Amino acid sequence: MELTTAAPGLETAAELCAAFGKDDSEFAGIALAEILKRRFNVPAAAAFYKTPLGFRFFPAGGPEPKTLYRSEWMDGIIRQSAGKTLTDFGPWAMPGYGPPEKFWITLTLKLSKTTPGYIILGRSSEPWQSRAERDSLKKIGEIISPIARMRIEKRSADAEKTKKELQLTNERNRLQGLIDSSPDLIYAADPKDHIININRAGMQLLGIKNPGEIIGKKASEFAFNPGDRAVLAKKLREEGFLRNYAIRLKGKNGRPVYCLESSTAVTDAGGKLIEYQGIIKDITSYVAIEQELKEANRSLAQANENLKKTQSLMVHQEKLASIGQLAAGIAHEINNPLSFLKSNYGAAENYIARLKTLAGTAPGSPDGDTKSREMDRIFGELDDIYRESGDGFDRIINIIRDLGSFSRSSETEDFSQYDVNEGIRSTLAVARNGIKDIARVKTKLGNVPMIRARGGEINQVILNIVMNAVQAIGSEKNAEKGLIEISTQANGPQVRIIIRDNGPGIPPAVISKIFDPFFTTKDPGKGTGLGLSISYHIIAEKHRGSITVQSKEGKGTSFIIDLPVNGPPKTE
Ligand SMILES: Nc1ncnc2c1ncn2[C@@H]1O[C@H](COP(=O)(O)OP(=O)(O)OP(=O)(O)O)[C@@H](O)[C@H]1O
Ligand SMILES: [Mg+2]
Repeated sequence: MELTTAAPGLETAAELCAAFGKDDSEFAGIALAEILKRRFNVPAAAAFYKTPLGFRFFPAGGPEPKTLYRSEWMDGIIRQSAGKTLTDFGPWAMPGYGPPEKFWITLTLKLSKTTPGYIILGRSSEPWQSRAERDSLKKIGEIISPIARMRIEKRSADAEKTKKELQLTNERNRLQGLIDSSPDLIYAADPKDHIININRAGMQLLGIKNPGEIIGKKASEFAFNPGDRAVLAKKLREEGFLRNYAIRLKGKNGRPVYCLESSTAVTDAGGKLIEYQGIIKDITSYVAIEQELKEANRSLAQANENLKKTQSLMVHQEKLASIGQLAAGIAHEINNPLSFLKSNYGAAENYIARLKTLAGTAPGSPDGDTKSREMDRIFGELDDIYRESGDGFDRIINIIRDLGSFSRSSETEDFSQYDVNEGIRSTLAVARNGIKDIARVKTKLGNVPMIRARGGEINQVILNIVMNAVQAIGSEKNAEKGLIEISTQANGPQVRIIIRDNGPGIPPAVISKIFDPFFTTKDPGKGTGLGLSISYHIIAEKHRGSITVQSKEGKGTSFIIDLPVNGPPKTE
């Protein structure tokens, strides 16, 4: 049985095309649903297609196209109409649009290989059995499918383009942000080396306020020596890239800015130069630091040199200082015999005058007996005076000799054969006056060989250590005198000197410091703290011997000196 329903014809397709032509917005989709609703005279019509997000839905009578993120109803239609152009459904209600209709037909539009679109028409009056209607629907589908496809493709291409443009803009902004936040100069220059881009740090480095002052100018204008830039650009062209190339740019007020440039010559696929791109780091402050360092090094070396000079001067001066200390004692030593020599001289003068008187005695004067008795007495006195004076002269001569032997050193003193025992003896002799009220000295000098040494300096060391011992003992309030024991012994290829005292000892906390220059526990003006540091220098460095200390608080201190018999190696 053929149903008689009048089928919309080609005019419908023409009207649809006109609607699309009039409106290139999505509202044309709603117009399409409305035309079909009217032309087929049905209560419900709509169009929809699937998007990655859900469904784009164009209901006849709807206020605007809308996106349904999920729709089981539409999913069902898509499932059932798979592979077919026309599909019958029903009864169904289009959710949100009118009451249920008994008979539905779906026309599948081929929008693309993967995206079908759908037109749905619903009515309850009669099923979709009319061949004319079905053919008409198919025709309409054939005509509007390509149009709808083009529209959708254009729409998604536009959307894609907008998205890409947005991405590109974001990308560009991000890059520009990075470039601008860089503390280093970043630039690009065209193949003729004209600047086409520079960042903020770069303008700052060059002392430029706005880009107009540099964009389009030759890069060489901003090099401290324009020729340097030409050399750099040539190298860059030849090698393709540069890493940390040292170059000076022209900074604010034409001042040179020391830089390291890393850059690339960007080429196209055919190897043609497109532009130069580079990052330039300002290292002026490092250069300055390096120069300061070099300067500091130089003055350090100079200071070191001065220190060495001062040190040898100090050795000399310390010696003079302690001789100065000794001078008072020595003066006293000489003064004693000198004063009785003087009084003896006076006495002898008187005796001789008396003898003259007696010798010229006239007759009648005291008798011969008295005369010879008195003369005997005077001769006896004179004998005593001579003996005593002889002693006095010996003492003075000895002191002078000891002093000479003690201080025979001079800065230029050469290494020569030195008798350690004799050195100790003469040192003690000159120091006698400083020691005698405070300590007894006991010596136990062994049978030791002569050594190759600068004797004056060794004596100096012995004196320093002995005087330290005296001062240490003297610092204690003891009724009894202290004891200083000095011994020598042969010790293989060395000679050992031990100087021991029974003073207060050295606290463990400071014992490691006593050889440091200027370390002293003595009151200001009493000690410079140089004695032991100079002693160390003389023994360990000049003579290649060793000097060590052992001490026990409350018991005393021993200094042990070992000196090589052969002295230091001769090349030194
Ligand atoms: N025999 C000792 N007993 C106790 N302490 C000592 C003895 N010898 C040295 N010291 C300690 O070592 C310190 C350093 O001695 P050093 O001879 O270098 O300097 P100083 O005697 O203080 O001064 P200077 O010798 O220059 O006049 C002394 O201040 C003292 O504290
Ligand atoms: Mg000292």
